[in-house]
Amino acid sequence: MIAEFYPWIKALHVVAVISWMAGLLYLPRLFVYHCRAEDVRHAKTFQVMEQRLLGVIMRPAMIASWGLGLMLLVTPGLISWEGDYWIYVKLAAVFGMTGFHVVLARHARAFEAGRNARPERYFRLINEVPTVLMIIIVIMVIVRPF
Ligand code: HEM
Repeated sequence: MIAEFYPWIKALHVVAVISWMAGLLYLPRLFVYHCRAEDVRHAKTFQVMEQRLLGVIMRPAMIASWGLGLMLLVTPGLISWEGDYWIYVKLAAVFGMTGFHVVLARHARAFEAGRNARPERYFRLINEVPTVLMIIIVIMVIVRPF
């Protein structure tokens, strides 16, 4: 049954991860500019953008990425857990990506409460995390080096 829809599930999985990645790469940028906001009006604008990005795009995309990814994981004959080590590295990087999402959501709440204590430089630095994880994930799932 699920195998019949495999190409559709995989296509929707890739659409979902692209949307999730867009948010994971953009939100730290918004935090960089939010740190520079000179007045309450600008800070409020960034706050609305951050909350919308998280609530309307990132959270649904993360849930869809996981849901469709798990459907692929249980598709008969797709993954051999004895031989395919790439899937373990991929899933470890995906857990890292999910943890990073949670950290960003916490920062968004801190900004919302006016409690952000992190400097602009910190957000520039963490912006590299999803890029590195994405490169590892895509190499693992497409090249399957081991
Ligand atoms: C959220 C949890 C995730 C799970 C459980 C998961 C699992 C999987 C599985 C089982 C496949 C099918 C492999 C096959 O066709 O043999 C797949 C395909 C794919 N995944 Fe994920 N994945 C997840 C997240 C991600 C993320 C975050 C990315 C990118 C940043 C990603 C990128 C891809 C790509 C590009 C493919 C298609 C590869 C191909 O065409 O062969 N996945 N995923």
